[in-house]
Amino acid sequence: MTKTILRALKGETLPTPPIWMMRQAGRYLPEYRATRAQAGDFLSLCYNSELAAEVTLQPIRRYGFDAAILFADILLLPQALGMDLWFETGEGPRLSTITTPAELAALKPVDAIHETLNPVYETVRILSRELPQETTLIGFAGAPWTVATYMIAGRGTPDQGPAHALKSADRATFSGIIDLLTEATIEYLSAQVKAGAEVIKIFDSWAGSLQGQDFDDFAIEPARRITAALKARHPGLPVIAFPRGAGDRYAGLHDRIGADCIALDDGVTPDWAAANVQTGGCVQGNLASHHMVTGGDDLVRETRRVVDAFRGGPHIFNLGHGITPDASPDNVQLMIDTVRDTVRDTVRGA
Ligand code: CP3
Repeated sequence: MTKTILRALKGETLPTPPIWMMRQAGRYLPEYRATRAQAGDFLSLCYNSELAAEVTLQPIRRYGFDAAILFADILLLPQALGMDLWFETGEGPRLSTITTPAELAALKPVDAIHETLNPVYETVRILSRELPQETTLIGFAGAPWTVATYMIAGRGTPDQGPAHALKSADRATFSGIIDLLTEATIEYLSAQVKAGAEVIKIFDSWAGSLQGQDFDDFAIEPARRITAALKARHPGLPVIAFPRGAGDRYAGLHDRIGADCIALDDGVTPDWAAANVQTGGCVQGNLASHHMVTGGDDLVRETRRVVDAFRGGPHIFNLGHGITPDASPDNVQLMIDTVRDTVRDTVRGA
């Protein structure tokens, strides 16, 4: 029997939606923290294929999620293109910056990325051997705009100001960065598929800060190009696009990007998204991640609201964004039980 996530991605409406969770391998799990300590630090974990496969498998063993997402990071690609990357404990990523034509020209050619990223492909190969046969393996990359925001600023920024500034001041260099990332992302994701990834997800975490024509040029167009190139090379490959913060621009995105599934953040209501986005194909999402911290009746009620709203079409249950380190592993179990309808009548009046 075909895996449930692949069925949903092909447009099938299932009685119970398949489930996985963004950042499902992460610091809220004690077994993840133990393996990360064994690896030394986060980047060493990403490049240690055995241990990266191990942390990918941990949430599958604990919860039986329907999909596993490769354990890696969107910022490994700029590193493979020759940028410096490190993580400041408690603060997040730091990179060397790129804002000039000379710095753009100094990056490595696209073909050179595999030298750095080979351990990631090895992680995928291990996982495709070791995952339970019903579990779908998802590969991923960051979308060019989101990755560019980190390359231009050298760190995460609240408003992506430095990237917007370069876009205004030197459109040619900015577009050159986006084009290079688009080409590199196609090669990176294609290599993941060759290694065994069954579905590809493109994370555009900062798509929402692009306004007007910029949203079309730098969120939609790169995702469309990546999706088209991957599907041409790997016929039938399902693609999930996640332009986070798109708001009412989520409507019509299946067609505009050519993706099989649009992942929704929790900035849109499930009812609105069922009427305006799910009409175009499979949707993924979109329970607010704070319920994994707060739990209780609210979690059960909101989980049911998401499941009920999307019941009439293809749906993969997920959070609206990644699970946070302060989440409780028990709340994750409660969410899964609620989706799979094993918890009944726990919410008074629901
Ligand atoms: O979803 C998964 O479980 C797969 C693995 C994955 C990670 N990062 C592991 C990770 C994926 C898909 C990502 C994507 C990613 N990375 C995004 C896009 C999705 C999103 O969350 O918006 C972004 C913007 C990044 C860049 C990044 N990596 C940041 C900003 C940080 C620091 C913030 C934080 O949570 O600490 C990371 C680190 C990171 N990536 C961690 C994990 C599990 C935490 C690192 C640790 O163990 O200390």
